[in-house]
Formats: sequence, structure tokens, C-alpha cells
Amino acid sequence: MSADVVSDLDRFFNANSGRIRDELFQLLRIASVSTRPEHAPDVARAAEWLAGSLRTAGMSVEVHATAGHPIVLGEWRGAPAGAPTVLVYGHYDVQPAEPLGEWDSPPFEPSVRKGRVYARGATDDKGQLFIHVKAIEAWLRTRGALPVNVVFLVEGEEETGSEHLVPFLRQHVERLRCDAVVVSDSAMFAPGLPALLTSLRGMAYFRIAVAGPDTDLHSGSYGGAVVNPVTVLARILASLHDEDGRVAVAGFYDRCREWPAELRQQVAGLPFDEDAFRDEAAVPELGGEAGYSTLERLWMRPACDVHGIIGGYTGAGTKTVLPARASASLSCRLVADQDPAEIDRLFRAHVQRVAPPGVRVRLDLVHASPAWQARLEGPLLAAARRALAATFEREPVLVGEGASIPVIGDFDRIFGAPVLLLGFGLPGENAHGPNEWLDLGNFERGLRTVARLWAELVAGDFPLTGPRSP
Ligand code: BES
Ligand code: MN
Ligand code: MN
Repeated sequence: MSADVVSDLDRFFNANSGRIRDELFQLLRIASVSTRPEHAPDVARAAEWLAGSLRTAGMSVEVHATAGHPIVLGEWRGAPAGAPTVLVYGHYDVQPAEPLGEWDSPPFEPSVRKGRVYARGATDDKGQLFIHVKAIEAWLRTRGALPVNVVFLVEGEEETGSEHLVPFLRQHVERLRCDAVVVSDSAMFAPGLPALLTSLRGMAYFRIAVAGPDTDLHSGSYGGAVVNPVTVLARILASLHDEDGRVAVAGFYDRCREWPAELRQQVAGLPFDEDAFRDEAAVPELGGEAGYSTLERLWMRPACDVHGIIGGYTGAGTKTVLPARASASLSCRLVADQDPAEIDRLFRAHVQRVAPPGVRVRLDLVHASPAWQARLEGPLLAAARRALAATFEREPVLVGEGASIPVIGDFDRIFGAPVLLLGFGLPGENAHGPNEWLDLGNFERGLRTVARLWAELVAGDFPLTGPRSP
């Protein structure tokens, strides 16, 4: 990459770093909590704010209303003939900030402490998304053009499952067609050690409801003769795992794809500090599926977790009641090639098998998205390696990821485009929890990395698509 370009971009970022940070803080002040109806006006405000920011950067922008939250679409298509088109994806919605009492500073009032900015959305995903907005601005302001065409696609429903984005992709296939997709909504492996993501787990999210009598009953008059829905629910939930920490639903593991030996070996060689991970989670001991390391459990193996239970009387004092109903939400993190629809069938069969007569059990699949695996070679990954190595002065490592980004697999399925997950977050940044933060040094390096990536993409091989993963 030419030294002129690098120094122009660097100069831009140095000269504008105060303003860029102020603008990021404006975005962080908008409480765009997608799951709460009362925040819908804030979500809409965040979409408009981003649209304005993309226009200022030099893109043409449209805000598309959906039956849910708006999709912001920015375009810049002035690259030289034959240049690739890159789609940048991100989300401007955030998780709820509650419990507010656990925050050291208000979640929607960004606060800088020790080189970190604390705010809901700082790392997931407003801070990382904003890196891309400003990298585009830097090119257009300093060079008047980008080396690639860019389509900027930002949604406000990622944290609730991206319900309206997939139909939008299908509806605008021709317009959104691209040679590669770039996403910054993940983390580095450790401070100073950048990472390229090779996988995300998928998800099958369920709600389960157990109904017994029409109303709560006196537990003295009925207890022992009427089946208790709370007990049944507890039994069903307890039946989901065996003593070895394996999911005990018949057929659950049948389609799990083994990771390539080479990748497993690389994972085993990562500088992973198990004790630090345990301490960060603040638990006395780690636990999971027997026979697998912690990173394997998180990245290569599926899991099933209960998120919450509701049932019966839990207030002060005593109330001798046989509750009418009980419910819970739970989800499976899936790996390739598990099929969410099949997992749904297997869970249904399991619940039917273990539920006793005397109650009605209902299982609803609320959200489903399959796992994703990256193509492990090709010019896109090579360009990202060069950009990261230049700005972080360290070769990136290949890592997996246990979390999910629902729409990622659809980019490959719909556009045949490889996806690059280039994260500038850090483990321990408390995404979804209280005191979420983003390291401002990584934000700065992120700006420089992404700006560089655009040039590296045209310096390498074509086409960007590279070989498909098996
Ligand atoms: N950005 C995260 C996913 C993530 C977290 C990737 C950490 C890499 C490292 C994303 O916003 C997220 O939270 N996804 C949800 C999806 C769900 C609500 C459908 C998840 O994984 O729970
Ligand atoms: Mn995210
Ligand atoms: Mn998230």
C-alpha cells in the first residue's frame, strides 16, 4: 500500500480524533434498545442519526422502514471499473441496560475511564460499526474516492434475531450484490492480539409452557393428587443434560461437523488462560461437556442453556399454592451442520417423552438461525491479515466464536459472498452486561485497520470470493 495513502489517512485520523470520538458519544447517547417497544422512537432516532453520519461521510443513503425497526442503506459506487463491491454490515440496536443499579456510570451517558469508553453499545456494536463509517469518511475526505465500491447495511434488530433483514436481502438481491461482506461485531483474542473469526454458532431459541389446573389450587386440598406444573417443568429442564454435561436429547449431536484437524490444532496452540477465563466469569469451577477443552466447548460444540423460569409463588412469607402454570425460555447454540428445524423436532419428541400425563406442555421455537463457518483461505482473509498485521504489529490468530450473528450465513447463501468477521472488541468488555466498555486504543487501531483494508483488497488476488469451504 502506498506510503502516501497511509500517511494521508493517518493524518486525517490524528487531526479528527476528538471530533470522531464526540460523534461516537452522540450515537452512544441514543437508547436504541430494540427489544423494548417504549424505546422504538430511540431506535428510529439512531437510524436517522446514522443515516446523517453516512451522508456526511460522502455516501448516498436511504432509510427503509420495515414492520420492525428501520434498515439504513448507504452506497458509494465510484470505484474504478472492475473494482470489487464490499458490503459492510452492522447493527445500531443494543441490549437493554438493566439492572441499572449495577452500572458505575449511566449506560447512555458515555464515560471515559482508563482509556475505555463505558456505555451500552460501546463494543456491541455501535463503536465497532462507527469505525467503518469513519474509515469511509477518511478515504473520501483525503483521497476523494475509495478503492472499492461500498454498500453499507445497518439494521436495528440484530439483538432480537434480525427478523426483517433476511426478507430485505432477498427483496434487494440485485442492488445488494457484492463480492465480499465485512463485519466488525466481534472481539480480538486478547489485548494486543487481533483475531479473524472462522465460525459463529447458530441458535434455536424456545419458550416452553407447562399448564396444569385452570387456576392456582390450595396445595393442601389438591397437592399429591394433582400434577404440579412447576415440578414438571423443573424435571423437563433437568432432563436436557446428562451427568457428563452432554445434551441428552436423542439425535442432538448426530449432524455436528468435526472441525478440520489443522484448525483444532491451532486452537489448542492459542494462548488461552483458563484460570483467567474462570475468574472473569467469577465462578468456582468451569463445567461442560466431558472430553472437550473450554475453547472446544465454546466454539466447536453445541450447547443448551436455560435463560429464565417463571412459576408459582416467590414473594415474601408463605403461600401454600399448587400453581396453575410454569414457563421457561431456553436456547441451543448450534454448530455446523445442525439444522434448527430438526433440533426443533428433536426437542419436541424429547419433551413429549419426559412430560407426565396430567399437564399440557407447549414448546414454541421463537428464533432460529444456523451456524456459520468461514472460508479458511482466499484473498479476503489474506487482505485482512495484512491490514491487521500492519496496524497491530502482530499477526492475527484464527479463532472460533460461541455467540451468534443471525444473518451472517445468509450473506453467503444469498450472494455467494465470503464474510470477513474482523472484531475490535476484547474479551471481558461486558457486552449485554452492566458496565459495557470499548478500549479506545483498539477503536483508533480499528479505524486505521479498516481504512487500510480497502486498499489491501485491491492489492491482492481476484476474485475476492476465493474457494468455498467444504
Ligand atoms: N455481537 C454479538 C455476537 C458476538 C458476541 C460475536 C461476541 C462475537 C463475539 C451479537 O450482537 C449478539 O449478541 N448476538 C446474539 C444473537 C441472538 C440475540 C439471536 C447472541 O449471540 O446471543
Ligand atoms: Mn453485536
Ligand atoms: Mn449483542
